[in-house]
Amino acid sequence: MSKKLRVALVFGGRSSEHAISCVTAGGVLGSIDRDKYEVVPVGITRGGVFVPAEDDPMKWALTPNELPEVIFEGQTIQWPAAGTKELRHTDPSGVAHSLGDIDVVFPVLHGPFGEDGTIQGFFELIGMPYVGNGVLASAAGMDKEFTKALFIAAGVPVTPHVVIRKHEWEQNKAAKLREVETLGGLPLFVKPARAGSSVGVSKVKDMSDFDKAVKDALKEDTKVVVEHGIDGREVECAVLQGRNGAAPRVSLAGEIVVTGREFYDFEAKYLDTGAVDLKIPTDLPLEELLEMQELSAKAFNALGCEGLARVDFFLAKDGFLVNEVNTMPGFTPVSMFPLVWKASGIGYKELITELIELALER
Ligand SMILES: Nc1ncnc2c1ncn2[C@@H]1O[C@H](COP(=O)(O)OP(=O)(O)O)[C@@H](O)[C@H]1O
Ligand SMILES: [Mg+2]
Repeated sequence: MSKKLRVALVFGGRSSEHAISCVTAGGVLGSIDRDKYEVVPVGITRGGVFVPAEDDPMKWALTPNELPEVIFEGQTIQWPAAGTKELRHTDPSGVAHSLGDIDVVFPVLHGPFGEDGTIQGFFELIGMPYVGNGVLASAAGMDKEFTKALFIAAGVPVTPHVVIRKHEWEQNKAAKLREVETLGGLPLFVKPARAGSSVGVSKVKDMSDFDKAVKDALKEDTKVVVEHGIDGREVECAVLQGRNGAAPRVSLAGEIVVTGREFYDFEAKYLDTGAVDLKIPTDLPLEELLEMQELSAKAFNALGCEGLARVDFFLAKDGFLVNEVNTMPGFTPVSMFPLVWKASGIGYKELITELIELALER
């Protein structure tokens, strides 16, 4: 039997999506093909410390009472220097122990410091192959202003929008409000340019609420994106990079149906799960599905994506608009990305293998 590949599964992290990343790690630990891979779990605490973590799917599972969290317990991880592959951990007395060589890193991190190109840059620096998107696609996909700029250049339809920087709002509010007026009226969506999980996102139905919405978004970022509110369905496709330079592979469409809430906000995503119905796959006339799949591949290529991405759309009366791309989409066994691939013929275990093989191919 050939030697198993050694995979460092990196999870947790500094963003508000720490717990969900831990849940994903539990899912991957429970399903990864152990005949092919030996897993070395590496946690990142909320404070950003790399620590050895337990190879126990149950420890990272979501329970009703407690959100999983990576805790510093005295040991830290030392990544190898460029050109070497040996991972080590240091015990509380400062003595280093080998964790063996690592062939590939699988980061299952969301949001800032995980999905935004920063950790990808770190893996590039130390010469470690890693699963998923590179520095540029991760950074561009995290920033709603630059995502849209790249989409417009590539002919991918986006929602009409205005970008407001903190100093512009403080110094030139009237000019910015005139720009916002050109968007086509209420409702408006106001969001931080670089966040996620709907944190800091507001739906504005009355202009007297607009200032507060901008201020709330500015708590999360120094840059805000204002969009015309789209009246339409929220539909998504999952994309996998093609093998050996082939075109991206696009899944069937999934849909998010939110009831009893204004939009797919933080509560709907994580707390009020009864408000959300995932339709996988969802009903779309074949012609529309094909158009959506083509736009998904175009969006994937426009950002220079590698590995995987989830492309999120609004389907309005006049057709599709791409809302955003998630370069490390939710990846628990019950998340949209794995489920929509399952419906398209690729199961969770196979998906994990595919992503690792794609990482090693590049
Ligand atoms: N222009 C818009 N029109 C209608 N709904 C929107 C618009 N922008 C955002 N939303 C709603 O807000 C949610 C979160 O916005 P999104 O841009 O996806 O931010 P995040 O990166 O936090 O997921 C969307 O899933 C959708 O329900
Ligand atoms: Mg979103």
